[in-house]
Amino acid sequence: MKNKKLIIAGVFSLITIGTMNAQKKPHLDKTKPIEERISLLMKEMTLEEKVGQMNQYNGFWEVTGPAPKGGNAELKYKHLRDGWVGSMLTVRGVKEVRAVQKIAVEETRLGIPLIIGFDVIHGYKTLSPIPLAEAASWDLEAIKKSASIAADEASASGINWTFGPMVDISREARWGRVMEGSGEDPFLGSKIATARVKGFQGETRADLAKVNTIAACAKHFAAYGFAEAGKEYNTVDIGNATLYNTVLPPFKAANDAGVRTYMNSFNILNGIPATGSPFLQRDILKGKWKFDGFVITDWASIREMISHGFAKDGAEASEKAVKAGSDMDMESYLYVAELVKLVKEGKVKETLVDDAVRRILRVKFELGLFDDPYRYCDEKREKAIIGNKANNDGVLDMAKKSIVLLKNDKNLLPLKKSGQKIALIGALANDKNSPLGSWRIAADDNSAVSVLEGMQQYKDNQLTFEKGADLTIGKTSFVAELVFNTTDKSGFDAAKKAAANADVVVMVLGEVGFQSGEGRSRTNLDLPGVQQELLEEIYKVNPNIVLVLNNGRPLALPWAAEHIPAIVEAWHLGTQTGNAVAQVLYGDYNPSGKLPMSFPRNVGQCPIYYNHFNTGRPANVDKNVFWSHYTDVEKTPQFPFGFGLSYTTFDYKNLKINKTAFAKGEAVKVSVEVTNSGNYDGKEVVQLYIHDVAASLARPVKELKGFELIELKKGETKTVTLTLTDKELGFFDNDGNYLVESGTFKIMVGGSSDKGLESSFELE
Ligand code: BGC
Repeated sequence: MKNKKLIIAGVFSLITIGTMNAQKKPHLDKTKPIEERISLLMKEMTLEEKVGQMNQYNGFWEVTGPAPKGGNAELKYKHLRDGWVGSMLTVRGVKEVRAVQKIAVEETRLGIPLIIGFDVIHGYKTLSPIPLAEAASWDLEAIKKSASIAADEASASGINWTFGPMVDISREARWGRVMEGSGEDPFLGSKIATARVKGFQGETRADLAKVNTIAACAKHFAAYGFAEAGKEYNTVDIGNATLYNTVLPPFKAANDAGVRTYMNSFNILNGIPATGSPFLQRDILKGKWKFDGFVITDWASIREMISHGFAKDGAEASEKAVKAGSDMDMESYLYVAELVKLVKEGKVKETLVDDAVRRILRVKFELGLFDDPYRYCDEKREKAIIGNKANNDGVLDMAKKSIVLLKNDKNLLPLKKSGQKIALIGALANDKNSPLGSWRIAADDNSAVSVLEGMQQYKDNQLTFEKGADLTIGKTSFVAELVFNTTDKSGFDAAKKAAANADVVVMVLGEVGFQSGEGRSRTNLDLPGVQQELLEEIYKVNPNIVLVLNNGRPLALPWAAEHIPAIVEAWHLGTQTGNAVAQVLYGDYNPSGKLPMSFPRNVGQCPIYYNHFNTGRPANVDKNVFWSHYTDVEKTPQFPFGFGLSYTTFDYKNLKINKTAFAKGEAVKVSVEVTNSGNYDGKEVVQLYIHDVAASLARPVKELKGFELIELKKGETKTVTLTLTDKELGFFDNDGNYLVESGTFKIMVGGSSDKGLESSFELE
C-alpha cells in the first residue's frame, strides 16, 4: 500500500514536472506537431546556440581520423556546457552517454539533447559479417535482420544514430573500403541500401521513436567509391552517366526508404569537393529528392577543402560548406569557430543556418530525444541485449548465408564427418581477432569464434593445426599501418608434415581483418606475406586442399583458381566466423552466396565489372590484334559478379516472356523453371539481366534488374517469375532525366552474370 502511494506520488510529480517543463518550454509539449515544436524551440535560440547544433565532436578518447588541432577535451567540455555542441560521435556505453547527455540537457541554457553517433557498420558488439560479405547473401530479409540486431545492441548502449549504411558502389578491388559496401552493382546495392535503412530505422518514420531503432546515415555522398586507382581519398572524375546511373541509385533508394541522414564524402568530384558541392547536396539531395533530414560532413572534410585547394582558409571553407548544404560539421571545428561571424558579416544568410538547425532538430524530435533524453540509457537493457544468444544466433545465420563456394572440383566438399585426418593450416585459422574485420570499434578484441574452434566442434575426425607462417609483425589495430612478415618460413616444415599425413588439408589464407577498410588501399591483390608460397609448398605434398579465403575485398588468385580443387570465400564473417565456416565445410549448411563484385585475374584488370559498355571491337572478328583485349591475360574476370556454387546443382529451362511486345508502362513478366538437379537441398539466386540494344545513350552489355533467392529440395522444380517495369527498363541521361526508350531489349536469366538462358522483347 505504502509502495503504491509512493508510486502514485512519483507519477504525479513526474507529470507535474512534465507540465511545468512544457509550460516553461513549450517545445516539450508532446501533443504539438514536431514542426511546431521545432519552431517554438528555434524562437528561443541565439545564433550561437543554433550554430552549436551544427557542431559535432568525437568522444574524448576515440579517434577515427586525424586528431583535430586545438581539439582538447577541456575545450570540448566547455563548448558542451555552453550549448555549442549538437552531437557527439564515438561516445558509447550507457554510463558515458548519460554523462555527456546530462551536461547537454541539465547544464545548458536550453537543454537540447545530443544526438549520439557511432560507426555501427556490421554489428555493434556482436558482429555480423562485413557488409560486402553480407551482400554476397543476396538475402534482403537476412541483411535487414542483421542491421536490426546492430541497432538493437547500439541503442542499448546509448547510441541513437549510426554512420551506416555505406552505399558507395565501387568497382575497385584496390580500394580498402569496398568491405563496407555492397559491391559493384547499383541494382543490388539499392535493394541492400533499402534493407539496411529499414533494419536500422524500422519500416516507417514513426518507428524511429522506438527505443531499439536508430537513425541511419547513407554515406558517402557521393562517388567516393570511384577514387582513381583505388587510392584512398583520391580524386574522382566521372561522367554524369556514371553518376546518375551507377553512383546515385543506392543513395536514392536510401532516401525512398526514409533514411534520416546522409554523410558527404572526402573526395572531390569533377573538381568540386563533395562537402562543398551545392549540385550534390542542394540540387539533387535536398532539391530533386526532397530529403528533409540532415547532412553530416565526413571527418574534418570541411577543413580538408583547404588542402583540396577549394578554400583559402577555415572561414571560406565554412562558407562554402554551409552554402552547399553541409548541415553538421564533424570534427573540423570550423562551424563553431566561423559561422556566427560569417552570418554577422552578411556572408552567410541566417536562413541557411536555420534550415540546417531545423533539419537536425527534426531528427532529434523524431528519435524522441526531447521527450526523454535518457531513453537509450537503460543499464538493464544494456545488460540484457548486448551479446545475448539471440543476437549471436542471428549473426551466425547471416555469416553462413554470406559464404560463397567458388570452386569444388572432385567434390572435396562437404567434408566427411568421421574417419578423416584433417590438417588445418594457416595463422588465420587460429585467429580470433581478424575475423571481426575492420570497423568494429565496440567489439572486444579476440572475441570471434576462430575457424579452429569451429572445426573442433566436429569431433569424429582427427584434426591437427599448424599455422605455417604469421601474417603480420606485432599487434594490428584500426589506426596502425600493417607490417608484413615476408620472410619467416620456419613454420613451413611442420605444416608440410601435417599436410602429408592428412586426407584433406583445409588452409585458411587471406588478409587480416585490418587489411581492408579505411586507409587500406592495396596495389596487389595477392595473398600477403609468404602465404602464396606456403600454399604452393603444401600443394606439393598434398593437393587435396580446401582453401578458405578471409578477405575484405576481391583477391586475384590465378594460381589457386587453377590448381586448388576447392575454394570457399569466407570474407571476415564476424563474431561467429568459425561456427559458420565449419558448418559449411561439413555440409550442415549448403552455401548459396553469390559474388557482389567481380574477382579479377590480376590487379592490372582493375577496375573490372560486369556491367561495362561494349567497345566498338568487343570480339576478335578479323583474327588479328586490333580488338579490345589484353595480350597477356583473358579479359574476363576470374570469378564473375553473381557467381557462386552450391553442393547441389541447378538447371534452368523454359525461359518465357509473357508477350513479345509491350507498351511503355506495361509489366514484362519473365518466367523460368529452375530444378534442383543435384544431391542436396539448396538455395539459388535466380538473376535477371537486361541489355537495351540501341538507345540514345549507350547502355551496358548487361544490367541486373531482378533477382529472387529460392529454396529447392533435392529434385524439386519451381517456376520463378520476375517483373520488369519502366523503373527497371529506363536510364538517366547526362542531365539526370529518366528516359524509357522504345526498342529491343535482350534478357538473360541464370545463376551468374556470365551465362544464362536468353530471350528478347520489344518495347514500343
Ligand atoms: C569515415 C566515415 C566515418 C567517420 C566517423 C571517417 O573517417 O570516412 O565513414 O563514419 O570517419 O568515424
